[in-house]
Amino acid sequence: MKKRVFAAAVVVALVLSGAALAVDAEDVLVGSCIYKFDDTFMTGVRNAMNAEKDKLGCELEIVDSQNRQPLQNDQVDAYISKGANVLIVNPVDRTAALPIMEKAKAEGLPIVFINREPDPEVMKAYDKIWYDGAKAEESGTQSGELIADYFKANPGADKNKDGKIQYIMLRGEQGHQDAVLRTEYSIKAIKAAGFELEELGNDTANWDKVQATDKMKGFISAAGVENIEAVLANNDDMALGAIEALKAEGYNTGDPAKFIPVVGVDATAPALEAMKDGSLLGTVLNDAENQGRAAVRVAVAAAQGKPITRETVGYEITDGKYIWVPYQKVTKENYQQFMK
Ligand code: GAL
Ligand code: CA
Repeated sequence: MKKRVFAAAVVVALVLSGAALAVDAEDVLVGSCIYKFDDTFMTGVRNAMNAEKDKLGCELEIVDSQNRQPLQNDQVDAYISKGANVLIVNPVDRTAALPIMEKAKAEGLPIVFINREPDPEVMKAYDKIWYDGAKAEESGTQSGELIADYFKANPGADKNKDGKIQYIMLRGEQGHQDAVLRTEYSIKAIKAAGFELEELGNDTANWDKVQATDKMKGFISAAGVENIEAVLANNDDMALGAIEALKAEGYNTGDPAKFIPVVGVDATAPALEAMKDGSLLGTVLNDAENQGRAAVRVAVAAAQGKPITRETVGYEITDGKYIWVPYQKVTKENYQQFMK
């Protein structure tokens, strides 16, 4: 009797609050837009999203926004008109999160942003919005520490013995929190470890391997390959692009006298291979699996009208809205455990 009264009270409370009654995961259609499919790390996130969809039994559609914000805006409209129950959006342009949030809010649709963090004002302006990603500062610090540790263990890496590390910085897309903060915090970490630095080159290569090879070739001709003592890249694709350019000069191909430490971020499969063959010093795990899984779990739970908590989704929720998936340093000692 008590139980029945309680159940009735719950229904009344749900109706009064206007909340949607809990639906089965199978009845949930998740509409997702990824900034572009041709991105190594985001492909890992997409794969993890699809794997979680299979586990939960929900419907999940993922479309390629082809690096074009107007196209993505249309894709969001299309999901809304076809009756998607929740959205997962990886914005092309971080500042476009505002109009996208407004579209979702007008429909009362829950929305989960991933990988490109909306401004706090956008996050505060709606109660059914979440952000699932990783703390960019953390990856910057860890990649800087990889370089600092290498110089501590190998004093000869200061090739001109001037007490400074002559380095090249390859940045991700302009305005992306991961590009800005990884650049800043990697340098901070090297300084905090007691090293002085001299920048020989710094440019964006938009997360892209081919662009990074081009930029690195330019830096090599300007500075001279023998004068470069370290390369920091905001992601693995660019680190691997830089390594291509170094290899063309006979560096990082196995001769210990011709090695320049290069670090990236992501721990993609090709980066782990490069660690195995010794051409890449280290990287930082950007956990695509947990980021993808968390996005789908939060989306489905939100569409079901459940509260988003550690109990319902299995991830710590910060300030009611943020899922921060930790980064992890990947070194020659532990890289094998990340290989699939
Ligand atoms: C970063 C990742 C990059 C790129 C970018 C896309 O987190 O490290 O490789 O995928 O996201 O927004
Ligand atoms: Ca030096």
